[in-house]
Amino acid sequence: MLKIAIIGCGNMGLTYAKSFLQYNLVQKEDLLLIEKNAENKERLLPFGNVVNHIDEQIQRLDVIILAVKPQDSKAVYPELKKYLKPSQLIISIMAGIPIKVLEENLGHTSIVRAMPNTPAQLGMGITGFTAGKHTKIQAILKADNLLNATGKTIFLEDENQLDAVTALSGSGPAYFYYIINAMIEAGVKMGMEESVAALLVKQTMNGSFHLMNNSDKSLQELIANVTSKGGTTEAALNKFKEMGLEDTIKQGLYAAENRAKELSKL
Ligand SMILES: NC(=O)c1ccc[n+]([C@@H]2O[C@H](COP(=O)([O-])OP(=O)(O)OC[C@H]3O[C@@H](n4cnc5c(N)ncnc54)[C@H](OP(=O)(O)O)[C@@H]3O)[C@@H](O)[C@H]2O)c1
Repeated sequence: MLKIAIIGCGNMGLTYAKSFLQYNLVQKEDLLLIEKNAENKERLLPFGNVVNHIDEQIQRLDVIILAVKPQDSKAVYPELKKYLKPSQLIISIMAGIPIKVLEENLGHTSIVRAMPNTPAQLGMGITGFTAGKHTKIQAILKADNLLNATGKTIFLEDENQLDAVTALSGSGPAYFYYIINAMIEAGVKMGMEESVAALLVKQTMNGSFHLMNNSDKSLQELIANVTSKGGTTEAALNKFKEMGLEDTIKQGLYAAENRAKELSKL
């Protein structure tokens, strides 16, 4: 059984701790949770050994997950570097920090870089991940098994593609919430109670998702199925087209990808 440390146990770090325990990938006594924020300590206690700084305990572990915010990474590197052994696998989920930067700062080569998303909290996430040139296949498979505990995984050979993963699925949940919110607000404007509008919109999203996944029709065909000539859907779609919504959505995603690229150069 693996011995694992998670450095930074906020939203994502805690999600990993819970998921690893849920799937028996680690025993509670072999899970070291390193969390600086004292307020988080209480809620972490049921899931592992909680400490507030990196110490020599880290030497006896197999896998170390880096889940602090990117801006906190610089404080972590020198502390972690002191105790690292070449056989240990590092999995970084920090957005925008390239493997090269991790290799240089940690003096370590067994590294996997992953980009999860928040539905990981329910085991329904999707994680794109990539590995350093010197990371062995066994280490990559080990990382895959662990990341799988939070949902699906996809391995990308080209690290640059993680920027697109960030734009599509990493930030993706926010886009869907944004659209759902706009639809609910429109419902309220039409005179509906917010709870009723929310039920209509959320269940429509849920049903549409399942129909899309269980249908042999393309997205265009599914749209056409709802759109009759001169009807209501056509009126909405025409307005979206007139206002350039499709292009706006694409531009938003390109902006996210660009920002991911900028962050990786900081
Ligand atoms: N949330 C997402 O959707 C998402 C998706 C993909 C990737 N990520 C990546 O996942 C990472 C974590 O994100 P998050 O949303 O879980 O952030 P978060 O909730 O802020 O959690 C990070 C935790 O790390 C703690 N911390 C900071 N420095 C530390 C140190 N030196 N040692 C131990 N703990 C330390 C923070 O404490 P303080 O609060 O005291 O600073 C905080 O509790 C980020 O790098 C982010 O880029 C997030």
